[in-house]
Amino acid sequence: MQPHTHPHEAATLPLKRPQKISPDLPIGVFDSGLGGLTIVRAMRKLLPQESILYFGDIARLPYGTKSKEQILRFSVENTQFLLHKGIKALVIACNSSASAAYDFLRRTSDLPVVDVISPAVEEALRVTRSGRIGVIGTQATIDSGAYQKALRAKNPKLSVVSAACPLLVPIVEEGAVPQKIQKAAVEHYLAPLKKHRMDTLILGCTHYPMLKKVLQAAVGPRVTLVDSARPCVAKLRAHLEQSGLAAPLKKRGRLHVFVSDLPRSFTRLGENFLQEKLGRVTVVR
Ligand code: DGL
Repeated sequence: MQPHTHPHEAATLPLKRPQKISPDLPIGVFDSGLGGLTIVRAMRKLLPQESILYFGDIARLPYGTKSKEQILRFSVENTQFLLHKGIKALVIACNSSASAAYDFLRRTSDLPVVDVISPAVEEALRVTRSGRIGVIGTQATIDSGAYQKALRAKNPKLSVVSAACPLLVPIVEEGAVPQKIQKAAVEHYLAPLKKHRMDTLILGCTHYPMLKKVLQAAVGPRVTLVDSARPCVAKLRAHLEQSGLAAPLKKRGRLHVFVSDLPRSFTRLGENFLQEKLGRVTVVR
């Protein structure tokens, strides 16, 4: 039987890179906004020799409240943009995009594609002792059931509880929301999960590591928070090494940030996410 193809998928197939793939090319990373910079931060630390092209689709943020079809379309467009700039691998640094488009992008792109969901699932399986796992993410990610399915596929005995937290992305992107309000929102979303007696909580959105302190305080010290950044970068490194695409350890890689809009507070916020100077930022409209 033919696999189901969405009409939009048919229109965009195949996603070919325009030039020959080589270790000198940068790695393409995209997110709906600034959240993916938490992944870039880990890449800069763990793979400092790699150059990065980052695309933050700020004009169309948030993705997490949109339909699967719309998120798929945005993700394909973001990938095409990066492919045309010239990349050797793609990191989907957005859970909402990964839940809607990872399978499609992996099937149709002829370069390594790494997402954030599968590495976080593997990390959660590694750290849980009780098998009681919580997942928080955007509405799109939680409704897709991507985490729940991936966890149960690995171990059907796991007890998984999840919650969509729609206010957390705007809180993080705003940047200057008082702690008191962050705390109230986090506690509101986590209250039902706490009853579940989980020992592990997956941060299923790349914006949430910015709220780590508040999240940890809300669930207590016995719960391990799983941030996809390090496991995602470990998976990326393995892909690059296997395919002979790792950059030589000669000098520090470059970072070039593209955004589809430039909000007033962008530089301050971006540097907060990245914990380094943003450097070159280009607006593409
Ligand atoms: N950072 C994105 C994620 O990991 C979501 C942000 C949004 O809703 O646009 O899901």
